[in-house]
Amino acid sequence: GKGQFEHFMLKEIYEQPTALTQALEGRVDPENGRIALEDLELGTFNDIDNVQLIACGTSYHAALYGSLTLNQAGIKSTALLANEYSVASPPIDDNTLVIAVTQSGETADTLNALRQANEAGANTLTVTNVVGSTAAREADDALFIRAGPEIGVAATKTFSSQAVMLSLLVQRITEDIHGTPAATEIESYLSELAEMPDQIEELLERSDAEALASRYEQSQSYFFIGRGLGFPVALEGALKFKEITYEHAEGFASGELKHGPLALVTPDTPVFAVFTGEEDEKTLKNAEEAQTRGAPVVAVCPEGHRAVDVADAHLEIPDTDADLAGLLANVQLQLVSYYAADLLERPIDKPRNLAKSVTVE
Ligand code: F6R
Repeated sequence: GKGQFEHFMLKEIYEQPTALTQALEGRVDPENGRIALEDLELGTFNDIDNVQLIACGTSYHAALYGSLTLNQAGIKSTALLANEYSVASPPIDDNTLVIAVTQSGETADTLNALRQANEAGANTLTVTNVVGSTAAREADDALFIRAGPEIGVAATKTFSSQAVMLSLLVQRITEDIHGTPAATEIESYLSELAEMPDQIEELLERSDAEALASRYEQSQSYFFIGRGLGFPVALEGALKFKEITYEHAEGFASGELKHGPLALVTPDTPVFAVFTGEEDEKTLKNAEEAQTRGAPVVAVCPEGHRAVDVADAHLEIPDTDADLAGLLANVQLQLVSYYAADLLERPIDKPRNLAKSVTVE
């Protein structure tokens, strides 16, 4: 049941500390800087030289997050929409790893892309929440995110758990290929990771998301911007918002705002700017360009960040590694969407026209 919560979505947002603790259980040892993933059929990733991540919707945003992290670690990687894969898939060879990211493990588009990758001879791995799911069975290997069942149609805790699972996987892939993990200071990275459940707990206790949602309730459109690892978070923030509020929302790379979307910006289009510590001064400049046109800017960043002084409102995230800041920002954005939808009295757990698992192409 929903327990003390009015909706499964809110319950699942609040379950994120537990979900992440479960995802990390036995897999990270911060003191020794070690990551211990399950034994994989694929063995090591020594021979891998390119990685494709395939997924849809929210899982695609987690895949993009994983792919950007691999790129930052110097490994060739692309995130691809599974439903585009049959018409435009990059070449596959013996050294290609294809990772299917799918909460349910039953999404038809993702299964089709996975089957195509299997037939083309790729090494395949599924990251999923459901043990025994089709995607878990059909890939060479599977890693389980252990988020527990997710009932709300809008994916929340599974996004966070997928992103964390992928960031562990990225460390392991990078270590196998380059001899050193992606994070240059692996001990400190792993201890930040281990602290994430507590940080989310703290964020949930202190969040101003409900007040913020009511402050901007009368807006016309909602924009989300981010750079680097903040970009998939901006996309996810907008997807969640449109799914459950039925209001118009779009996510952009911060730097893209000036290449077109700025034409839409008015005092009725709040801009949520996600700061992850990756060229934040540029993102702030992009946000200020919107502010100049009258748009209220909401800075999603740690306390004491320069953006707080410039922005019209602030959603605070605890200070953490640049690799993880976006995941904390995402939790704030989940709450904003939830409370905005609640004010509009939407059927939050079952938005119109949407299904939890999309088993048609
Ligand atoms: C959004 C949402 C969908 C799913 C997508 C893929 O909140 O839930 O966008 O993420 O349908 O589903 P899975 O991860 O089951 O493959």
